[in-house]
Amino acid sequence: MYYIYILKKENNGSNRTFTVDTQMKYKEITEESIKVLVDQFYTKIRQDSELGPVFEGTIGVDEASWKKHLLIMYDFWSSIMLTSGRYHGNPHQKHQNIPAFDIQLFDRWLNLFSETAHEVHDFRIAKQYVDRSQRIAESLKLSVK
Ligand code: HEM
Repeated sequence: MYYIYILKKENNGSNRTFTVDTQMKYKEITEESIKVLVDQFYTKIRQDSELGPVFEGTIGVDEASWKKHLLIMYDFWSSIMLTSGRYHGNPHQKHQNIPAFDIQLFDRWLNLFSETAHEVHDFRIAKQYVDRSQRIAESLKLSVK
């Protein structure tokens, strides 16, 4: 996220700060925009007090392991959104192997994902991501139950 801060002098002499989100939004989905979205999303995931430990418990905490995960996720979203056919994994199997976690965390995952999609794209494209993520989440939930 990139912010600019605007400092405005009030009539009474005090200063007031406004924050404006100025991240450039991608007008279409490209391999580059996918990379930006995935990187931003997993930065939030790793910082999240509830999701972070679940992910780091399986992926690890070192940068090399995360780089590997991110490369897989670029392929995944490229296959989903650009039908590039680059992803050949089995997410259901992978999620089944993760130690049991609270199913409610899916909602937290989806909220963070939606927030990120809206940071990277305008509403129209963000909605496409959100719709796809919700549908995939519903099917993944059945695997982890
Ligand atoms: C609370 C919800 C979720 C949790 C805790 C979670 C956790 C994880 C973890 C720990 C991995 C790494 C697995 C490994 O390397 O063995 C992973 C991989 C993955 N996740 Fe999730 N996930 C969640 C939701 C989702 C959703 C909603 C999607 C899709 C929209 C998704 C798509 C994927 C994909 C494609 C992989 C890569 C699988 C592969 O290695 O081929 N995940 N997830």
